[in-house]
Formats: sequence, structure tokens, C-alpha cells
Amino acid sequence: MTSPDGDRYAGFPPGFFERADDLPDAVFYAPPRLVTHIDDAAIAAVGRLYAALGIDGSAPGPRRVLDLMSSWVSHFATPPAELVVLGMNADELAANPAATERLVHDLNADPRIPLPDADVDAVVCCVSIDYLTRPIEVLADAGRVLRPGGTLAVTYSNRCFPTKAVRGWLATDDEQHGVVVAELVRRAGAFGEPRVELRTPPGVGDPLYAVTATRLG
Ligand SMILES: C[S@@+](CC[C@H](N)C(=O)[O-])C[C@H]1O[C@@H](n2cnc3c(N)ncnc32)[C@H](O)[C@@H]1O
Repeated sequence: MTSPDGDRYAGFPPGFFERADDLPDAVFYAPPRLVTHIDDAAIAAVGRLYAALGIDGSAPGPRRVLDLMSSWVSHFATPPAELVVLGMNADELAANPAATERLVHDLNADPRIPLPDADVDAVVCCVSIDYLTRPIEVLADAGRVLRPGGTLAVTYSNRCFPTKAVRGWLATDDEQHGVVVAELVRRAGAFGEPRVELRTPPGVGDPLYAVTATRLG
């Protein structure tokens, strides 16, 4: 397989979105992992990012947010009024205290998000984009479920489950990851120009990078 969907992935090297462990994700994610995947400073940086973007519960007005590829923590300093969490493990999602709705759904088996059009004000995806084998389809569908003017926030660090991350992620560095994620967001076709930024102090602890974009109206 050179690319998951022909021209949509043109220019990415052959095998970029393949993985060492190509078993169904339900196998790897069957045991709950009630752990954190980045250090406390990086987690705090995620919360500050969401507050700065005005998508958490500290912003005026109700907020309905989708946390894609979620687990037992969603890293909001102040959770939004409604938080839909989508991930692979029901026990992890059940343990998420900020969640108001829980969806167990494999985005690699089916990149369509089981929510209606324009259903949420923001979509976040924390330290997980590297596990998607069809990321453009998933990001395009994130655009579908986002209301016009809504916010997309994809964050990443430098740690991963190496057998489940796509090979292209493992072969590229932090800076290149920003270029890759921004290009995936562009190719999703639903967003304005993405912004890439490092949200933690350089060289201290786990880095936290953010790629953010606005749903076109
Ligand atoms: C490194 S953890 C990050 C969890 C959480 N976002 C966080 O910040 O702690 C990766 C998450 O991606 C989710 N995930 C992995 N593959 C997935 C897939 N194919 N479809 C949906 N979620 C997936 C898993 O359920 C897991 O919770």
C-alpha cells in the first residue's frame, strides 16, 4: 500500500501511514491504561492552550467539545459544559471525570465520527494523531462535525507507542511533525491555514506542540 487513499496522500513516501503492529487497534487498546502520556508541565500547557483558544469552560457561553482519541483525562483546566470523548477503551473513557458523552470507536477501521454535522464548537486531539492510518479522512470528518468558525486543536509531543504509530511519524522529528500535521489539516479541506507552535519552554521536559486551525464558514 503506497497511500491510504490515492491522490489525497500524494507526495507522502510509500508506507508513511503503515505501522509495525497492523493488528486491529482493539487488540492493543483492550487493556485500560490509566496513565498519563506526557509530563505535568506538558499537561498544564494543554490546559492553557484550550483556555487561550476560548474552548474550555472558563470562556463565556456554553461549549460543546469533542476530544478525539481520548482516554481518562482530557487536560482541560476548566472542562467545557459538554465534553464528548471518543477513544478505543470503554474503561478509560468511563473514568474520564470531565466527559458528558462517551463513544468507543475505531477511527482506523472507520474514519467517520459518529456525530451529526456542525455538532460541536471545538475538536481537540491530544498526543494521538500519530496513530491514525487515514488522518486526512478523520480530520475532514472533524471539519464536518465542527460548526463553522469552530476550533481544531491537535497537540503532540515526542513520546508514542512505537508499534502503533505510523512509520512516517517515527522517521521524522518534532519540527517535521508540525509540517506533517499542518499539511494533513490543509488536505482535509475544511480549515483555514493551520498554525504550528511550541507551547512549552524549549529543552525543558516533554515538549508540547500545537497545530490549531479554524473551521471555514
Ligand atoms: C497516547 S493515548 C492519548 C490519550 C489522551 N488523548 C491523552 O492525552 O492522554 C492514545 C489514545 O488514542 C486512542 N486511539 C488509538 N487508536 C485509535 C483509533 N484507531 N481510534 C480511536 N482512538 C484511538 C486510544 O484510545 C488512546 O486513548
